[in-house]
Amino acid sequence: MTNQIKVRATEELRQEHQSVLQLLNEMNRVLGSADTSDAVAWKPFFENALEFFKRDVATHFKKEEDALFPALEKYVGRESGPIAVMLNEHQQHNSLLKELRESVAASDLTRVRSVWENFNPQLTMHIVKEDSVLFPMAEHMLTEEEWSRVGQQMEEINKAQ
Ligand SMILES: [Fe+2]
Repeated sequence: MTNQIKVRATEELRQEHQSVLQLLNEMNRVLGSADTSDAVAWKPFFENALEFFKRDVATHFKKEEDALFPALEKYVGRESGPIAVMLNEHQQHNSLLKELRESVAASDLTRVRSVWENFNPQLTMHIVKEDSVLFPMAEHMLTEEEWSRVGQQMEEINKAQ
């Protein structure tokens, strides 16, 4: 029963990672053929993609930061170690997203490309780390009760979206 909660919670976060990776791929493809003289070809796509980040990815970060990480920090701490690294990376992603949003709004393709060169590999690596290190660690360490609380909190965050 509780094992199901654990599987459901990590599955949900992993699936959201897959959606992000898919979108990053598409953004990369659009950016690859984008032309400075033709913002119509890339700008609306990027605006939509950034909306997805603003809404869905922000909710995803929240589920990690407010549900999963607090449960895990009991075991691995928060000031240093994997959670500190993940939180720091979430902050970096948010500030790069802000820059991306500004440069898209300004139709500044050169700046979009330069932010993208940092953002895309950073977020991809971050997802790999969470999927392959952090989640397995949590799956191994948290108790059944802790998982059921994490599951409950994630559900509440989903509902509040
Ligand atoms: Fe994540």
